[in-house]
Amino acid sequence: MNNLNDQIKSIFQNKSELWLITGVAGFIGSNLLEYLLLHDQTVVGLDNFSTGRQRNLDDVKSLVSEKQWSRFRFINGDIRDLDTCRSACENIDIVLHQAALGSVPRSIEDPIRTNQSNIDGFLNILVAARDANISRFVYAASSSTYGDHPSLPKKEDIIGKPLSPYAITKYVNELYADVFARQYKMECVGLRYFNVFGRRQDPQGAYAAVIPRWINELMSGKIPTINGDGETSRDFCSIENVIQANMLAATTKKQEAINQVYNVAVGERTTLNELFYMIRDLLGEYDEKIKSVEPIYGPFRAGDVLHSQADISRVKELLGFNPSYTVKSGMKETIEWVVKRISNVVVGQVS
Ligand SMILES: NC(=O)c1ccc[n+]([C@@H]2O[C@H](COP(=O)([O-])OP(=O)(O)OC[C@H]3O[C@@H](n4cnc5c(N)ncnc54)[C@H](O)[C@@H]3O)[C@@H](O)[C@H]2O)c1
Repeated sequence: MNNLNDQIKSIFQNKSELWLITGVAGFIGSNLLEYLLLHDQTVVGLDNFSTGRQRNLDDVKSLVSEKQWSRFRFINGDIRDLDTCRSACENIDIVLHQAALGSVPRSIEDPIRTNQSNIDGFLNILVAARDANISRFVYAASSSTYGDHPSLPKKEDIIGKPLSPYAITKYVNELYADVFARQYKMECVGLRYFNVFGRRQDPQGAYAAVIPRWINELMSGKIPTINGDGETSRDFCSIENVIQANMLAATTKKQEAINQVYNVAVGERTTLNELFYMIRDLLGEYDEKIKSVEPIYGPFRAGDVLHSQADISRVKELLGFNPSYTVKSGMKETIEWVVKRISNVVVGQVS
């Protein structure tokens, strides 16, 4: 983390940048907000609460000082509206664009709504950022862009055909960012997140990601279902590594590092079976009953790739990325956070 610390320290010490985080009430957006406010930065946040939650913003508020919180301005608005994007981008130095409708299954059920936020909304914010002369545009891309290409580990330049409407939208984002970089001389960096997990990730609803869903189910006495035989694998990545990648992308001065897309992951593979037992055993330390739970197996999910693992040599070499959290250490912290949060809620109800 030395590389990161030096780079960030120099930019954070010299001046306070004005950042825009879109999707700020969501999982990744609220974690970026927490990090920036704790480093005394000034942040504008935009969200329409389609999947984001007020409680995520309240949580960040409880973790920063009053003074730090006063440096945050929230806009309740929609990236599908160009005027909203324009006013959000006023005087901004750096954009961290996270707003999108996530989830492969959601996009298969409702491709039009996914397209509107993820492509129309993306283009709106990109145009607004261009016209506001922002200095850096960092955006959330996705490992889904690798589609049906079988090679492992995934290298940025070798992609297959998209397997879902969501994957199309995320690839179109990259194409737009690349064209805007070349045509309008914008500085864009795309971060292809692999499966991210950590505090404030939503466990509820039909489109919840596997890790918060399983934690929630196990803690409430339900038995989690594994889609398929459990040998499906993913490169699960702690939110801490994702924050690091965003900060490096936002602050790099290396010309060759700009206008690139990068894999953001640990570079390892964990099967769903391994993941289940890791979560179960960590939770079992808090609740004896969980220790013996066995999963149920269901059918494979449409649009899912069987295996996913990133080659992270490009992001290491050009941005100096160094994932400091393994799946296990990230999971331990996530579970500690969930357990603490639940006990706080219970204590709050009692008092
Ligand atoms: N979580 C992952 O594993 C993962 C993996 C790959 C890519 N990504 C991408 O990272 C970004 C953040 O994902 P997340 O996991 O934090 O999801 P999230 O659903 O928690 O956050 C997305 C946020 O965007 C907001 N939003 C959606 N549409 C909007 C609109 N039209 N206008 C304004 N706000 C809008 C939502 O309300 C939400 O707060 C997304 O672009 C997602 O596609 C996430």
